[in-house]
Amino acid sequence: MSDQYWICPEGSGLCWDDINFFDHSFSEDVGNILFGEARDGVGFDLASPDNTSDGWLKKKWIIVDGKRCLIKGGSGAIRQEPYNEALASLIMERLGISHVPYTLAIRDEYPYSVCEDFITPQTELVSAWHILQTRKQPNHISLYQHYLDCCAKLGIPGITDALDRMLTVDYIIANEDRHLNNFGAIRNADTLEWISAAPVFDCGTSLWCSEPVAMIRSRITLPSKPFKKDHAEQIGLVTSFDWLNLNALRGVDEAFSEILKGSAFIDNARRDALCYGLRKRTEMLAEVVKARNVRETVKPVRKPERER
Ligand SMILES: Nc1ncnc2c1ncn2[C@@H]1O[C@H](COP(=O)(O)OP(=O)(O)OP(=O)(O)O)[C@@H](O)[C@H]1O
Ligand SMILES: [Mg+2]
Repeated sequence: MSDQYWICPEGSGLCWDDINFFDHSFSEDVGNILFGEARDGVGFDLASPDNTSDGWLKKKWIIVDGKRCLIKGGSGAIRQEPYNEALASLIMERLGISHVPYTLAIRDEYPYSVCEDFITPQTELVSAWHILQTRKQPNHISLYQHYLDCCAKLGIPGITDALDRMLTVDYIIANEDRHLNNFGAIRNADTLEWISAAPVFDCGTSLWCSEPVAMIRSRITLPSKPFKKDHAEQIGLVTSFDWLNLNALRGVDEAFSEILKGSAFIDNARRDALCYGLRKRTEMLAEVVKARNVRETVKPVRKPERER
């Protein structure tokens, strides 16, 4: 449900308008199997977008009130990812960042996140990985700069601003998995005209989601992707924080605590550690912004040539 490509059997007489899953309903048989729900083979219907779903977590597409929605599970014994998605949505809502809103759902006591398809019958998602393949990366150019250069050459608008926002959110939530297929750009699938960066999606693998409680407070260096290996370094790529209203993050740890209360897998000790860790991240971001402001106000002034 993220692009409009398909394989048309020769001579079938089929056309996309007649069969695509954006306009036509689909079977949940494959999705149910992916969700571990057994079903006997009789009348099994393979017509489903789930055949080509990407990613690591258990997921399936469903239709709710005519809208195509992705329902996605959590991993391991903690199942924290859906709660992280809900928190990331809240943070981005508060900061005015273009994002895919995720809500929480509980099915058979297990948590899931639900989000609407952000692609329409007229658009397609092109991943950062594909965008990076459009030009050869010179040895002396960083991956970050190469991505900006590729986007500029293709004519994709607003990429620096979008990366500033995505890298800032990833810093706050200590996202470990912003790999090159977890962001990208949207273009018109008919005219191939570039529209914008994709709204921020897939923020679940963050906030120490696979770490035991004891590791939540102690970790100083936090692994990041895709441009630098450590969040402390990656946040340095943000070109401007002028758009960032730090006051909007006040009380976000309490909001997270409320979100986490619904989980049967996250006990009080873990919840407290996570909320404390999140508050620390927002404080650390405030320090990064402050240090940047100081650096920018006391820029070294070069003496005129004749005075040297
Ligand atoms: N709301 C959406 N609308 C359209 N396409 C989507 C949406 N959410 C996800 N996708 C597509 O499905 C792919 C897999 O989804 P997602 O990245 O959320 O899953 P994941 O299992 O968390 O992935 P990962 O392997 O990165 O952990 C995405 O890379 C994207 O191409
Ligand atoms: Mg993903």
